[in-house]
Amino acid sequence: MKIIPGMSAHTLAVRIAAELDCKVSSCEFKRFPDGELYTRVLDDIKDEDVTIVQSIRTDSDLICLLQLIDAVEEASETKVFVPYLGYVRQDKRFEPGEAISARAIARSICAAGVIDTIYVINVHNRAVLKYFNVDTKELNAAPLIGNYIAKREIPHPVIIGPDEGAAELTKTVAAPRGFDYDVLEKRRISGEEVEIKLPKKLSLSVEGKNVVIVDDIISTGRTISEVASMLRAQGANDIHVACVHGVFVQNAVPRMLRAGVKEIIATDTIEVELSKISVAEMVAGELKRSSK
Ligand code: R5P
Repeated sequence: MKIIPGMSAHTLAVRIAAELDCKVSSCEFKRFPDGELYTRVLDDIKDEDVTIVQSIRTDSDLICLLQLIDAVEEASETKVFVPYLGYVRQDKRFEPGEAISARAIARSICAAGVIDTIYVINVHNRAVLKYFNVDTKELNAAPLIGNYIAKREIPHPVIIGPDEGAAELTKTVAAPRGFDYDVLEKRRISGEEVEIKLPKKLSLSVEGKNVVIVDDIISTGRTISEVASMLRAQGANDIHVACVHGVFVQNAVPRMLRAGVKEIIATDTIEVELSKISVAEMVAGELKRSSK
């Protein structure tokens, strides 16, 4: 098997290849003078099994993925690993005339070439997987976050999810380790504004406790900042934050630190400085199982 690293996931691709003891193909990416992206796979992939690894955080990331799928058309088997599948928060038409971005992205990926299997990690809304017309699998990084928290030896951590959408993630991080957990209520006012409420019935008190807020995505950090401020007001002790996909835009990190967060960690589905948890072993394990 050859791993084809996309522009946005080079480090993760190298880590996955190391786990699998297989080759990372060399690729060339450059811009034409007008800004268009040029992509070339420099290895001979004819009749090879290839796995493309490319997250979609930006428009260019999507173009790069589409180009890579096209470039490997002579491979005998093509798997596409999209560790962070962006655009899926626009998963339905909220207002007339809006694009269902998740569907548009899924359609464009599937139409880019012959794909055997697509893999994603903690997709924001699993329902969008129906938009892919090839075999699609979702991997769950929540246990890795649970392991990381356990290793950090934070005394009696309470795991908090900001909203119902994070309920399953929160439970999967907390329950296997026997951590207490609860989920708050969030109302999104706009892309920039969120309102956090305590659930009608708070199942536990955070006073004097160390808290880990978990979420699938942190973008502007406003959700986490609101939650952190509320938990501080409730007397929480240290506040840690863990997410699967660290998008971190618009000064997200300083915003969360200002709200009283002590530590922020993410996985490497998006390569950032705070990617302290690698999904490489989990991905490699899945690729090994599927090649048997
Ligand atoms: C939305 O429901 C997601 O799970 C995250 O809570 C959201 O994307 C976080 O966005 P931000 O960091 O901008 O508040």
